[in-house]
Amino acid sequence: MKIGIVGLGYWGPNLVRNFSGNESVKEVIGCDLQEGRLKFIQARFPHVSLTKSFDDLLKQNCDAYVIATPVDLHYSFAKRVLESGRHVWVEKPFTANTKQAIELIELSEKKNVNIFVDHTFVYTGAVRKIKELVDGGKLGDIIYFDSVRVNLGLFQHDVNVIWDLAPHDLSIMDYVISGKKAIGVCANGIANFYNHENIAYISVYFDNNCFAHFHVNWTSPVKIRRMLIGGTKKMLMFDDMENSEKIKVYDSGIEMNNKEKINEALVQYRIGDMHSPKVNQTEALSLGVSEFIDSINKGRKPLTNAEDGLKVVKILEAAEKSIKAKGKMIEIN
Ligand SMILES: NC(=O)c1ccc[n+]([C@@H]2O[C@H](COP(=O)([O-])OP(=O)(O)OC[C@H]3O[C@@H](n4cnc5c(N)ncnc54)[C@H](O)[C@@H]3O)[C@@H](O)[C@H]2O)c1
Repeated sequence: MKIGIVGLGYWGPNLVRNFSGNESVKEVIGCDLQEGRLKFIQARFPHVSLTKSFDDLLKQNCDAYVIATPVDLHYSFAKRVLESGRHVWVEKPFTANTKQAIELIELSEKKNVNIFVDHTFVYTGAVRKIKELVDGGKLGDIIYFDSVRVNLGLFQHDVNVIWDLAPHDLSIMDYVISGKKAIGVCANGIANFYNHENIAYISVYFDNNCFAHFHVNWTSPVKIRRMLIGGTKKMLMFDDMENSEKIKVYDSGIEMNNKEKINEALVQYRIGDMHSPKVNQTEALSLGVSEFIDSINKGRKPLTNAEDGLKVVKILEAAEKSIKAKGKMIEIN
């Protein structure tokens, strides 16, 4: 396969390395407006041919294109790729709004080509293991999802902290508890320095006994990447800053008898053992690249497809609306 990659900034070089390392990929062509980024890639990946112009990249007739530019360009670049009848990989978040996402989905169906959305965490060993535990019923019914992703982050010029950081956690949630339907979002946040929020708190309500909360912050002195997932049988903590024990499963829970007569109800706490399952260490991006290529070869939808991208964008959009309305609940249809 011949792959064209546009956007060789922070994330692009990882894509160049992983596509170049895939045995089905015979040629990679990179594209960036900035001379400095082209020189950076040339020095590290001398086999990659380079261009400054996206128009020129499209003329190279690649089998698939990868969009790793800032978010505000995802839609227009992906649209042009789809119009040319080629498959497209779009970085997270899929698009800047739901309207764009729906239009791209319709176009891909018309052209019969694939859209892969890079929800990278879905391909990590830790998230795969969490999914396995949840699907296997080990945690029971999932009742909450509580996530913190904070650090002294790189301020983005085109998006706020929600669009930058929350796609990771929202895509993990969507993958892990795919059976539950989000129905509404409330969010609060503040823009301390310029017109984009640098701190935000997002609550997601579901149509059944489940609730999710996300804290994202570019102005934290410490880096935290931690999630708690509570089930009716067991609970787990996913700490991505841990090297060896990323997941800890706690045999802890609460049982309440006599729910009808609340005054007489007895809460029973169960505090049992903790165990830390082994997780696969293969680089997530290389598994994502294999999945994209395999989905193209087999003519099937990839695991992280445009519909998954749309679900995440719907929550991001609702969260942004809610912040503007001082935390008002925004329904998701
Ligand atoms: N999947 C992940 O884990 C992950 C991690 C980081 C970033 N991302 C996503 O990757 C995308 C890029 O993020 P980044 O942090 O690398 O941004 P970045 O700003 O570091 O890089 C973007 C690059 O795109 C180039 N570019 C801009 N307009 C262009 C144009 N018209 N033609 C050609 N090149 C152009 C810029 O020159 C820049 O080098 C974003 O969508 C971001 O959300 C994903």
